[in-house]
Amino acid sequence: MASKSKTVYVCRQCGAESPKWMGRCPKCGEWESMAEISVPARMPAERRAQSVLNVATLRPTALSQIECSETQRTSSGNGELDRVLGGGIVPGALILIGGEPGIGKSTLVLQMAINMPQRRVLYVSGEESAQQIRLRAERIHSTSADNCFIVSDTHLENILSYIDDCRPDIVIVDSIQTMENDNVDSLPGSISQIRESTSLLMHVSKERNLPIILIGHINKEGSLAGPKVLEHMVDVVLQFEGDRNHMYRILRSIKNRFGSTDEIGIFEMQNDGLREVHNPSELLLSQHEQALSGIAISAAMEGMRPFLIEVQALVSTAAYGTPQRSATGFDIRRLNMLLAVLEKRADFKLAAKDVFLNIAGGIRVNDTATDLAVIGAILSSNTDLAINQDVCLAGEVGLSGEIRPVTRIEQRIGEAAKLGFKTIIVPRFNGKNDFGKFGISVCQASKLTEAFKVLFG
Ligand code: TYD
Ligand code: MG
Repeated sequence: MASKSKTVYVCRQCGAESPKWMGRCPKCGEWESMAEISVPARMPAERRAQSVLNVATLRPTALSQIECSETQRTSSGNGELDRVLGGGIVPGALILIGGEPGIGKSTLVLQMAINMPQRRVLYVSGEESAQQIRLRAERIHSTSADNCFIVSDTHLENILSYIDDCRPDIVIVDSIQTMENDNVDSLPGSISQIRESTSLLMHVSKERNLPIILIGHINKEGSLAGPKVLEHMVDVVLQFEGDRNHMYRILRSIKNRFGSTDEIGIFEMQNDGLREVHNPSELLLSQHEQALSGIAISAAMEGMRPFLIEVQALVSTAAYGTPQRSATGFDIRRLNMLLAVLEKRADFKLAAKDVFLNIAGGIRVNDTATDLAVIGAILSSNTDLAINQDVCLAGEVGLSGEIRPVTRIEQRIGEAAKLGFKTIIVPRFNGKNDFGKFGISVCQASKLTEAFKVLFG
């Protein structure tokens, strides 16, 4: 179906649109980021508005007069997924789940579809055949689901007619990058195709109040492939991450129009599918017979959830001229900053040493309260003195070597106490609260040197 199309330029970084090409995006300032895309002639703006909004809301209404029934959320049959979505799937929501290839996105959505026996789910796969999906269902021991309809197709026009035929309660599109729209003459996976497919699905979802889940791949830089517009268009963006060589997977909410982005879901990839992890700390701490040097435990938070993670460091004399610094699961720039702080403020000479840092379990932490454990692990490895196994830490380290306050201190202390730790080192600036109720000894430190005294005597 050939239709009139026009050419516009879209910034790959921020999604800004311009009628002519520019070397630098006027909105975000990125160089060479404008890509040429062709967009089909659209419906007139007012018709689009009609189809998205219902007629009653087209007139401006006083805020107090707007009637709002409690949003009916549908449980996805998966506690961790519900938690990240803010309590379940909202009717008409367009949800994007992004992640690297092989991380388990297809498994997650298939398990979800199977666990919702009362709902009709249409699973459209552009990547695998129906047989392959059946094999995956066999692997997770759930082949009896007759609420779940599978179709392997990539043409959006066909998919819209499947939606008409099948009348599903939920649609899954795996993946948005494989979908093609005959109105756009560029290859599947290109910016124009992704944009058009998403906008078409968005209209279907809003018009029929039908939740649609899109799967999206992530490119090498770690952002969702396709322009940022994709993120602007959808209601919810979830990111599925983890290390493929490890079992743990974290589902993070990056954007959520219906809930908080502070929630994370934790899963474990097993031979027969993803298992929800309700108690992450117990799994992330590895068990050692005796205390080893180079290990420190951090009472970390990801979003609203406290969990204890093991930070491992290895410090050794540099074999080559330039010392190596490497970090897995932790920001390398932050590691370099902490090393500089140690050098300058605590007088530890690490400039000629290789430093390797690793967060156990293959997870990535963003919590700055991990700083203190990172420093503890590095010093422990450097001095070859083990930190007592029943001590854990939480504190952000500032440039002058001060220990800065952290958020949700009580939750961190509570989690440490629950897991049987005897001592926790926390920032003095978090104030004097009644920490006695936790039944754990709370040492408050304001400078690195005070923390070292507790750790190494
Ligand atoms: P998959 O869901 O296909 O990933 P994605 O859709 O994100 O590309 O899952 C990929 C990996 O998960 C694959 O390497 C095999 C592994 N896996 C398990 O370990 N256990 C299982 O039960 C399943 C279904 C997959
Ligand atoms: Mg897949």
